[in-house]
Amino acid sequence: MSITILAIESSCDDTSASIIQDGNVLSNIVSTQEVHQKYGGVIPELASRAHQQNIIPVVHQALAQAKVQKNEVNAVAFTRGPGLLGSLLIGTSFAKSFALGMDIPLVEVNHMEAHILAHFAEDPKPKFPFLCLTVSGGHTQLVLVESHLKMQVLGETIDDAVGEAFDKTAKLLGLPYPGGPLIDKYAKEGNPKAFQFGEVKSKELNFSFSGVKTSILYFLKKQLKENENFIEENLHDICASVQHTLIEILMKQLKKAVEQTGVTRVAIAGGVSANSGLRNRLQELSTSLDWDVFIPAFQYCTDNAGMIAVAGYYKYLEGEFVGQEVSPNPRLKI
Ligand code: KG4
Ligand code: ZN
Repeated sequence: MSITILAIESSCDDTSASIIQDGNVLSNIVSTQEVHQKYGGVIPELASRAHQQNIIPVVHQALAQAKVQKNEVNAVAFTRGPGLLGSLLIGTSFAKSFALGMDIPLVEVNHMEAHILAHFAEDPKPKFPFLCLTVSGGHTQLVLVESHLKMQVLGETIDDAVGEAFDKTAKLLGLPYPGGPLIDKYAKEGNPKAFQFGEVKSKELNFSFSGVKTSILYFLKKQLKENENFIEENLHDICASVQHTLIEILMKQLKKAVEQTGVTRVAIAGGVSANSGLRNRLQELSTSLDWDVFIPAFQYCTDNAGMIAVAGYYKYLEGEFVGQEVSPNPRLKI
């Protein structure tokens, strides 16, 4: 008998549903909320309302695309955390109701573990152990992945996440939310060495981005005083220089982690792993340092239920189920 799982992701501002059958992702539907764009960041109250509107249509679409009927689903996997409480509540409540109604088990999934396990949605799949640099709007972590369900955080950000650094810089440049993809786009035609920003002191395997953010802010203020059109005239060079600075901070710590662990299988995951500069830099390092590099397909980089489905599938195989009393945990840790 095959194992069919419905997975739900609603931790931030993407409402997503996916169907996985025997480890193969059959559908991965994502509805991105555009309501936040004009505010320059996610507004939690608006996010939960939009999840409530989107969740049923998204689940219907995931079932239809996978050609699976509701009564063929064997379990429901859902993101329990980390994330925004109101957003998580919608996905958790939907998953609990569906499981109760169909009398099937529930599987809770950690959003950050799922970003990493997205690497098992498609080939080539990394062998264990491997290092994963998880870079998203809410997190920046270096994780030693020992098995599908055994992971150890070696380092993480002590202040902002790298995605936040991209988004906040974009806001300073007058770009809409989320600004990361736009910085990536403009950086392609800019000079990454045009401008330099303050050095950050990152301890051990941790990260810090607040210093660079302040340095960018003061740099722009100073330049705008001298030339009020500075941003428009230098947008490509500013984006390329910011992106280069952020990527080098990430690469410095990643190299350190490889040296300390001796593990040369290296993966990236999370929304910022869609960044073309980061993807290219990692490919370069794989050649120069002889690393085995794993870069996820674009559909598995930013938030999506496909990754929750993969994580849910491995937990299902281990019989790791939760009861109806489960509630969301905005600060769930790996
Ligand atoms: O993983 P994700 O979808 O959500 C969280 O779990 O946070 O990551 C979203 C983050 C945002 O900060 C967004 O700006 C960033 O990923 N992002 C990018 C790119 N695509 C998404 N940052 C830089 N370059 C990109 N191409
Ligand atoms: Zn995420």
